[in-house]
Amino acid sequence: MGRRKLVVGNWKMNGLRAQLPEVEAIGALAAERPVVEVGLCLPATLIMAASQVKGGAFVGAQDCHMKDNGAHTGCLSAAMLAEAGASWTIVGHSERRQDQGETDADIAAKALAARAAGLKVILCVGESLDVRDAGGAEDVVSAQLLASLPEGAAADWLAIAYEPIWAIGTGRIPTMEAVEAMHKALRAALASRIGAGEANAMRILYGGSMNGENAAELMAIEDVDGGLVGGASLTATKFAPVIAAAG
Ligand code: G3P
Repeated sequence: MGRRKLVVGNWKMNGLRAQLPEVEAIGALAAERPVVEVGLCLPATLIMAASQVKGGAFVGAQDCHMKDNGAHTGCLSAAMLAEAGASWTIVGHSERRQDQGETDADIAAKALAARAAGLKVILCVGESLDVRDAGGAEDVVSAQLLASLPEGAAADWLAIAYEPIWAIGTGRIPTMEAVEAMHKALRAALASRIGAGEANAMRILYGGSMNGENAAELMAIEDVDGGLVGGASLTATKFAPVIAAAG
């Protein structure tokens, strides 16, 4: 099917200039392995400096505002992030859905704003533990995906990240069968909205406690096209085996 694996580190609220050597080392790893697309979504304060040392990796943001400019104290527009050196941004991470109360409609609007500024987008979805335990997580997350999906969604600027909330930072991951079933369901949901051709070209990443131990098994699943990695992306030493597992 030819989907190039995409492995992205999400540093969340971690990283000062002292960590730029890690960015540089990860950029060097990426340059050695061009078969994999590697990126780091960094705190906005590091984007400009990181883009000077990023090597073969891209630098991305973790969020953007849905408006181009205006009275939004403390917020950053997609154009600002692009000017600083970002080429991608995450939208809809569960930590922002929870902490900032972002809705599906907000997330679709952010994705469109990012695209308008020339950024590529990773749109995150995922279920809570209650939903997982109740059964039917595939239906719930598919509905969340369709509600957050921006107009004009296409594989050349958008990727999806499935991140079960209960797997984030916990060391727990779903069974391989559960990951396989979810990714298959999400691709089918995409196909229902954007057509099978575009859905088959779009990358669907797994995120949540992915690390050097489990990445190869996760990324061998047919519809898993890479990873969105938190803790295991903070140093080149930890991230290297995840990148290697992708190809
Ligand atoms: O966006 C990545 C993330 O939420 C997963 O974090 O630390 O479980 O890999 P972690």
